[in-house]
Amino acid sequence: MIEKIKQIEQEAQTEIATVQTLDHLELFRVKYIARKGLVPTLFDSLKTLESSIRPEMGKHLNDLRNKVQKLFDDKKEALEKNLHSEKESIDLTLPGRKRWIGTKHPITQTLDEIKRIFFKMGFEVAEGPEIEDDYHNFEALNFPPDHPARDMQDTFFVSDKILLRTHTSPVQIRVMEKQKPPVRVIMPGRVYRNEAISSRSYCLFHQVEGLYVDTRVTFSELKGTLVAFAKQFYGSNIKFRFRPSFFPFTEPSAEMDITCFLCKGSGCRVCKQTGWLEILGCGMVHPNVLKNVNYDPDKYSGYAFGMGIERIAMLMYGIDDIRILYQNDLRFLKQF
Ligand code: PHE
Repeated sequence: MIEKIKQIEQEAQTEIATVQTLDHLELFRVKYIARKGLVPTLFDSLKTLESSIRPEMGKHLNDLRNKVQKLFDDKKEALEKNLHSEKESIDLTLPGRKRWIGTKHPITQTLDEIKRIFFKMGFEVAEGPEIEDDYHNFEALNFPPDHPARDMQDTFFVSDKILLRTHTSPVQIRVMEKQKPPVRVIMPGRVYRNEAISSRSYCLFHQVEGLYVDTRVTFSELKGTLVAFAKQFYGSNIKFRFRPSFFPFTEPSAEMDITCFLCKGSGCRVCKQTGWLEILGCGMVHPNVLKNVNYDPDKYSGYAFGMGIERIAMLMYGIDDIRILYQNDLRFLKQF
């Protein structure tokens, strides 16, 4: 028996040294200490001994039990302490973690800059619905029914009279329906056109519309405002020109060009060798439009303009395919 006790003590000592985890420690406990373990089993066999040596052996066994228990307790304490300190240890020498902060989409950045300039000139922002009715998108803007002017816009129809707006001009109508002059607003938003998708055109894009209506608003104020905008946005040394154009809701109508800021006017691929870039459409609000919103055209006059944001952003940032603006490709977006 004494041999057996020594042997178990030895074994337990060697084994405890190899224990590295609490799971492993549990196996140790089951093997030696638990009810069916080696030590209690040995206690059970005390009964089979002669009564004369029982007390003596009992003492040895108690010793063994205490030693094994202590091996277990010490190991348990050590492992738990370790676990704890692993969780709490902070390595102050590690480099900090970089936080990735998103950047604004190039369309938003361009729009923000346009807004900033018009805010300084006293314009406010208004918005309208992207799902419009025929009345606001066409009729109130002086597009007569069945007039070929409607063919200028390739429209997505939701139903007979409901459509995805093809421009931001219907917001002009919505603002004037709600508000009496003076009105001085810019109206940014998404517009939709059913066009063949290519590197130059997409089924949706963004516009910023502008509208100023008051007594005695003149075409020269329109020019002055747009030139002031263009110089702040594109740089004070650009040249500009206004060409006559046509829109049903403005009369007279014009388009504004600026010197191509890529070739500085000498002619390149982007300006198609003309040296000029068309940046917006504009004109004096048509009297019929004023009538449609119950403004007296003899008392009030106004100007309106509209520009496409994608085109401007693409020129500014040298982006050659409009579709990449809508693909949410982080490799592209991270550059802004
Ligand atoms: N709505 C016109 C377009 O989409 C632009 C425009 C707006 C022209 C306001 C004149 C006045 O092309």
